[in-house]
Amino acid sequence: MSAKKSPKIQKDHSAELTAVHKPSKEFSKKARIPSMAAYEKLYKHSIDKPEKFWASEAKELTWQKPFSKVLDWKAPDAKWFVGGKINVAENCVDRHALGSRANKAAIIWEGEPGDKRTITYAQLHREVCKFANVLLARGVKSKDRVLIYMPMIPEAAVAMLACARIGAVHNVVFGGFASEAILDRLEDSGATAIVTADGGWRRGKVVALKPTVDEALKKYGKVTNIFVVNRTGNDVSMKSGRDHWWHEEMENASAKHEPKGFDSEHPLFILYTSGSTGKPKGILHTSGGYLTGTYATCKYIFDMRDEDVYWCTADVGWITGHSYIVYGPMANGVTQVMYEGAPNQPDFGRFWKMIEEHRVTIFYTAPTAIRAFIKAGDEFPDKHDLSSLRLLGSVGEPINPEAWHWYYNKIGGGNCPIVDTWWQTETGAILISPIPGATPCIPGTATRPFFGIDVAILDDEGKECPPEVQGRLVIRKPWPSMTRTIYGDKARFKKTYFADYPGLYTAGDGAKRDKKGNFWIIGRLDDVLNVSGHRLGTAEIESALVAHPAVAESAAVGRPHDLKGQAVAVFVSLKLGYEASPELESELRNHVGKVIGAIAKPDDIHFTPALPKTRSGKIIRRLLKELVTTGTISGNVTTLEDMSVIDHLKSLLAK
Ligand code: PRX
Repeated sequence: MSAKKSPKIQKDHSAELTAVHKPSKEFSKKARIPSMAAYEKLYKHSIDKPEKFWASEAKELTWQKPFSKVLDWKAPDAKWFVGGKINVAENCVDRHALGSRANKAAIIWEGEPGDKRTITYAQLHREVCKFANVLLARGVKSKDRVLIYMPMIPEAAVAMLACARIGAVHNVVFGGFASEAILDRLEDSGATAIVTADGGWRRGKVVALKPTVDEALKKYGKVTNIFVVNRTGNDVSMKSGRDHWWHEEMENASAKHEPKGFDSEHPLFILYTSGSTGKPKGILHTSGGYLTGTYATCKYIFDMRDEDVYWCTADVGWITGHSYIVYGPMANGVTQVMYEGAPNQPDFGRFWKMIEEHRVTIFYTAPTAIRAFIKAGDEFPDKHDLSSLRLLGSVGEPINPEAWHWYYNKIGGGNCPIVDTWWQTETGAILISPIPGATPCIPGTATRPFFGIDVAILDDEGKECPPEVQGRLVIRKPWPSMTRTIYGDKARFKKTYFADYPGLYTAGDGAKRDKKGNFWIIGRLDDVLNVSGHRLGTAEIESALVAHPAVAESAAVGRPHDLKGQAVAVFVSLKLGYEASPELESELRNHVGKVIGAIAKPDDIHFTPALPKTRSGKIIRRLLKELVTTGTISGNVTTLEDMSVIDHLKSLLAK
């Protein structure tokens, strides 16, 4: 076990902000799980007999061949629903389109400029079948990797579902990532096809996508087909024989396609996420278990109903978009809103206007967005009727009590439970969250584990921490939607998630449990930052910086930020012959944006002749973190090789 230090005990927030909010009687009466007693009963059953619980959830899905065994577990390898054959797209589309939900809206979409489309389940079925046929006609086969780099348009979901339908493995890359990030992912996954668009709308401007793909392809030659949606009309070059317009391909494609059943453990997608090295991890999810997890969490945590209009504001480029826009909600046959652009287009009233207009009942967003709305002012939500809402959700980072209260009162009108959902790219589905008709909500805590999820907080020796003492969050039992591996790197998978405590999944988060059994997530224990709810590895930012000719060495750390949660602060020492200047500062900032993407651009760049290091030459980030957080250094500096560096850094920040 590694000798990481357990963080210190965290004191509770003030009584006023930690007020307990019980669900209303009216809400509970209609909910699937109507009371804490009902939650406790089902939770106990799900932990005593997890295989029984998960099997009964899985059986609500359509299997082409029933599974013969629920779980095959030899840590860290899990096989769920062994022997079962399933088609994920059939579950998300066909069983609604060919049944009573055929003419129900699957997606109510708005483009940023204001264009609108409504797509029924029957129409979605046609589109998915057609694109599946397009892929097949162009030679895309089961298990081939398909990179998807799209704006938030319905075709993104169609492309994902079409891949799932034919057993191809999609790798969605967030549309804000730069060409080098695309290149890394192409190389790591070995993708042979790409689905993209000419561009997308963001903050009133066209963000070009196909040209960014072309840039990446200068250094990668394995892609034989690119499908390009015509969204924004910007100039793009199309390479004959390789590049195809989506609408031209779809025009003649057949809308008939029989979904084949794939093994329950058939790979569904790879999604890259940041870790503690410069190389992102390709998190692999498989079919039957992932779908069961996303389906069941939508059903119980969002308490999805046929009459609901659900809206998750995430981008499909992140795990939230995979699990809670595409797979979970569609497996439940819900109607959902999808939006292409920025929350402040044309102004900060956009979300509230859309909630009013589409009568949204369930709204799922991130604390960073809520904080931006608070800053923009109450006049925006005040102009709109938000009374259709019945349930709110939060994801991506701890929600601070101030943001929680604003969300609860201003958006929820004081009568919508807030499900603060804790989970990760690796977990596939929500693992800790209130159950809305049952769990009393307390601002800042994700409260209790989902059914079948056995969460514990352990100290360095592997002993369970007593209440109120912070330790490391682990999951003791396997669950169906857990990642199966890091694509192409089983050793890293074992080392990252299963090495700290043999057989247990380590999440990488610090947390504590209060006396009532609620889990409070404190934040990452590794070198991963959470900027606006997105994971960024400090090592990724550092390796981008040292790739610039002026940079000799760099260290990236997080500092608290009012809106983003964490901001990126970097310390840079320059090579001989280069001088610090405002021009170089902005050049470095843009350079990181170009290598990784705009979300990784450092907020603060500090030039320094040297970085604090141990005698063996390791950069001591802990000191830099303390410095940017508190403005001083009070921690242990005895391991430091050169004490004068600290004085220099202190004076640097004092300027
Ligand atoms: O630190 C936790 C934080 O986000 C990390 C996972 O990031 P990612 O894989 O990008 O997935 C984000 C969307 C699920 C976690 O390790 N995190 C996520 N949700 C919460 C959270 N921290 C506190 N409270 C949450 N509700």
